[in-house]
Amino acid sequence: MSVSTATTASRDETECHASFLTVEDLTVEYRVNSRSFRAVDGVSFGIDAGEIVGLLGESGCGKTTTALSALRLLPGTARVVSGRWYFRGRDLLNLTEAQLREVRGAEVSVIFQDSSGLNPVMRTGTQVIEVLRAHRNLSLQEARGRAQSIFESLGLIEFDRISNAYPHQLSGGQRQRIAIAQALICQPSLVIADEPTAHVDVDTAAEILTCMKNMREKHRVSFILISHDPETLAGLADRIIVMYAGQVVEQGPAKDVLSNPLHPYTQALLQCTLDQPAANRAIREKKRFSFIPGSTPDPFRILPGCRFSPRCAERMPICDSDPALVEHAGRQWVRCFKYEAD
Ligand SMILES: Nc1ncnc2c1ncn2[C@@H]1O[C@H](COP(=O)(O)OP(=O)(O)OP(=O)(O)O)[C@@H](O)[C@H]1O
Ligand SMILES: [Mg+2]
Repeated sequence: MSVSTATTASRDETECHASFLTVEDLTVEYRVNSRSFRAVDGVSFGIDAGEIVGLLGESGCGKTTTALSALRLLPGTARVVSGRWYFRGRDLLNLTEAQLREVRGAEVSVIFQDSSGLNPVMRTGTQVIEVLRAHRNLSLQEARGRAQSIFESLGLIEFDRISNAYPHQLSGGQRQRIAIAQALICQPSLVIADEPTAHVDVDTAAEILTCMKNMREKHRVSFILISHDPETLAGLADRIIVMYAGQVVEQGPAKDVLSNPLHPYTQALLQCTLDQPAANRAIREKKRFSFIPGSTPDPFRILPGCRFSPRCAERMPICDSDPALVEHAGRQWVRCFKYEAD
């Protein structure tokens, strides 16, 4: 990944962004066969310490690309065209590699989609303990003790067997919990959790979400919780940011977004949740199918105007121009002309 706007934040800029986390005007492109497209386009949001913010949207809307840009974990074909990730006053995108190594795992950690961050040829216990010992001055015995306690809090009770196993010797749910243990072991202040419950059974999912809740309550850990499923975010997220085709289309307190969705896209997404049992939704997501009629725009051919308008039942002539994200009723922000006159 390259960052084309690599300038050092001035003192004033740093002071302006002294809050916990502010993502500002993030735009990321991928290059495919010498053509580029914008997977993330002008995304901005903020998070307070101890807050759980849900990033919601259909497959391909840019959730993972947004998240992985924070720690420069995107593939070489990605380029951050513009944007900032101000974390505790520092722009993560401008840190040196050495500074970034100190931040990764210790202050900010990532739970990758599909537990793909695990090393296949290292025992799982070692992988978790190594993260801890890389950042904290602990004896092996102390580190093992901490690993055992985090394993147990995630429902991995046979510590010796599981920590001695290689990833392929464990079930998908167990692997996912190891990846979560690795992300949480240093008690970072921000965890980016990319679909942490997508491939586990209902009971495991509940254990994982409870563990995240406890981390927030006991240690004031903040989470960016990525999901395509509103039900996963309900009861856990404080705020929800809804993305569509690389843009934020709605954001606000979770209870407002879930009970009174404003954007026709959010409304359609929630309707799917009501209409379809969880098992059906999981199959749909696995196959990258949508229940909302129509399909997401071709990222190489983004036309002017509202990106959702070709699928929108409430489409108006004005939707051919670009809607701005506007505040509604002092609580929610929405990118839709229906609310521009408010
Ligand atoms: N390495 C890559 N090279 C080219 N395009 C990519 C790459 N990774 C993702 N994309 C594209 O960028 C867009 C955003 O993808 P991203 O993975 O961020 O979406 P997502 O919201 O996380 O989707 P999902 O719910 O399926 O995980 C999609 O159009 C996707 O096909
Ligand atoms: Mg993703």
